[in-house]
Amino acid sequence: MAEGFGVGLALLTWILLGCQEEARAEQELRFKPAPRDRPVRLFTEAELARYDGREEDQPIYLAVKGVVFDVTSGKEFYGKGAPYNALVGKDSTRGIAKMTLDPADLTHETTGLTEEELKSLDETFNNVYKAKYPIVGYTARRILNEDGSPNPNFKPEDQPHFTIKDEF
Ligand code: HEM
Repeated sequence: MAEGFGVGLALLTWILLGCQEEARAEQELRFKPAPRDRPVRLFTEAELARYDGREEDQPIYLAVKGVVFDVTSGKEFYGKGAPYNALVGKDSTRGIAKMTLDPADLTHETTGLTEEELKSLDETFNNVYKAKYPIVGYTARRILNEDGSPNPNFKPEDQPHFTIKDEF
């Protein structure tokens, strides 16, 4: 008799646990965010170079610190013939840090920048680019090391204003 009761209790516990598990799975399904249907892109230098404002109906992209921004809405700055057109279609981190349009500085390279330039770079990155323009991807260099191995310091979640714009 006691044995039967024990088996019954075990069975009940098993059923209850099963129900809980089912409810948890359902909850998870319900609250899981919809998958992004437009994944951010990985840009090689050649791909990024296509978005330099040359073509009237093409979007204009500019990378800073390996983050590719769609700056099309700032066409008066970045479009063909505009004052900052030299910055687009590439990663212009160094030029933005030093506030120069010298072609030698229009590169991702940051070695030798002063503390002040690095601070200015971060300010422009946060207060101009991240604040104003949608992120459309990352440069291959930001995600992969020169030897093709993944960069462990890549953290897309440090982009709080992460939005994706139509294009793809
Ligand atoms: C004579 C020198 C310059 C003057 C008078 C000047 C003036 C300006 C002005 C008035 C704005 C703000 C426009 C607005 O928000 O409506 C601006 C934005 C900006 N300037 Fe300059 N600028 C100069 C040189 C440079 C140089 C050499 C660089 C090189 C990187 C540069 C990079 C930028 C950037 C990145 C922005 C932000 C554009 C945006 O909002 O997308 N500027 N500049």
